[in-house]
Amino acid sequence: MGLKNFFERKKIEGVDNTMYLTLREERRISKENNRIIKYYERQKARKNVPEEEYLTQMRDPNNVVEFDNLHTYFFTDVGTVKSVNGVTFDVPIGKTVGMVGESGCGKSVTSLSLMQLVQAPTGQIVEGSIRYQAGDGKCYDIPKVPKDRMLKLRGKEISMIFQEPMTSLNPVFRIGEQMDEVILLHEEGATPEIAKERSIAMLKSVGIPMPDKIYTKYPHELSGGMRQRVMIAMALLCNPRLIIADEPTTALDVTIQAQILELLREVKERINGSIMLITHDLGVIAEMADLVVVMYAGRIIEKGTVREIFHDPKHPYTIGLMRSKPSGKLKDNRLYSIKGQVPNPINMPDHCYFLNRCDMAMDICHGEYPKMIQYSPTHFAACYLCGESSFPKNDLAKE
Ligand SMILES: Nc1ncnc2c1ncn2[C@@H]1O[C@H](COP(=O)(O)OP(=O)(O)O)[C@@H](O)[C@H]1O
Ligand SMILES: [Mg+2]
Repeated sequence: MGLKNFFERKKIEGVDNTMYLTLREERRISKENNRIIKYYERQKARKNVPEEEYLTQMRDPNNVVEFDNLHTYFFTDVGTVKSVNGVTFDVPIGKTVGMVGESGCGKSVTSLSLMQLVQAPTGQIVEGSIRYQAGDGKCYDIPKVPKDRMLKLRGKEISMIFQEPMTSLNPVFRIGEQMDEVILLHEEGATPEIAKERSIAMLKSVGIPMPDKIYTKYPHELSGGMRQRVMIAMALLCNPRLIIADEPTTALDVTIQAQILELLREVKERINGSIMLITHDLGVIAEMADLVVVMYAGRIIEKGTVREIFHDPKHPYTIGLMRSKPSGKLKDNRLYSIKGQVPNPINMPDHCYFLNRCDMAMDICHGEYPKMIQYSPTHFAACYLCGESSFPKNDLAKE
């Protein structure tokens, strides 16, 4: 292999053609990564950790989850990917929080961090906390919870619904077997008969016709919409306090999408729980969410109530997202799109990450990353454009 080919191969595709790593550099990164990864993995694998080490206090007892300065990194051989880089927001009890942002901005990694399901060992939570108020009144600091304890929390109190149900349902087991397993695992004293009865009742409650037939079918025998209903039924089996729905309707067609959203809304009322709804579809957010968090390149650039984000967006990126909606067509009937691409997550600049794509950039934007500015008790944005707000600062404004 020629030297030129060798360097070609080392290029990080499509990002920055001048950036390549020598073999020595790659080896150094890999060695360093191993050291870091080992440390975190050892922490998580500890057995019989005393509760005091991972129990904490909520800042506000009305929240079910509080993300506080969360940093989740991937230690890859080409460098450290800072997928979530200082994220702070709350999920209040009984509310739906929508997360929006372009693909790759860290929405999924944020939600996976809450479940301790970030792809290990490369992916690790390196800083910050995620406080979770459990049904038993205890408050867990998720990044510190050891693996064996996490098994009992995950799936019982926090459930997750993924974009493509086929990938989360096991193709070789019948629907019923997969549902029963959840109940048998989490409920003490549950017998197979009780589990079957509960599974069928749950299938019925999410609008599946002939639930006892569906109970005996394999995932591939169902349609996409039906599979997503099964996923929702599974998520509900153990009365979760929080449902994370990661792009739950993206793989479905529009009519089914509306039905699934309606079902999610109904389910939320039924369990009086909270939903973290991740989507890139602003229409879905407008319909479903109470609060909105807008992410860009691993950070929150704006957050507020649905009304504040839709009627008074502050950050040029949020304004751009609003204009990209099909209803916000340009004069010549073309769709608006935000120019350019998200910066390379391995080498993030020190200035505002949105600078190279921003139509409204000023000189000051080349300086340090803008701080979060508070505009109302709920509305925050990180941009120099709007200057200081007149809203009195309080301790919520930290970030
Ligand atoms: N297993 C992984 N290894 C390395 N990088 C990853 C991994 N998973 C996600 N990332 C990176 O983290 C960033 C955020 O990804 P993700 O949270 O999936 O975005 P999205 O907002 O589309 O859900 C992306 O830049 C992605 O490339
Ligand atoms: Mg995602």
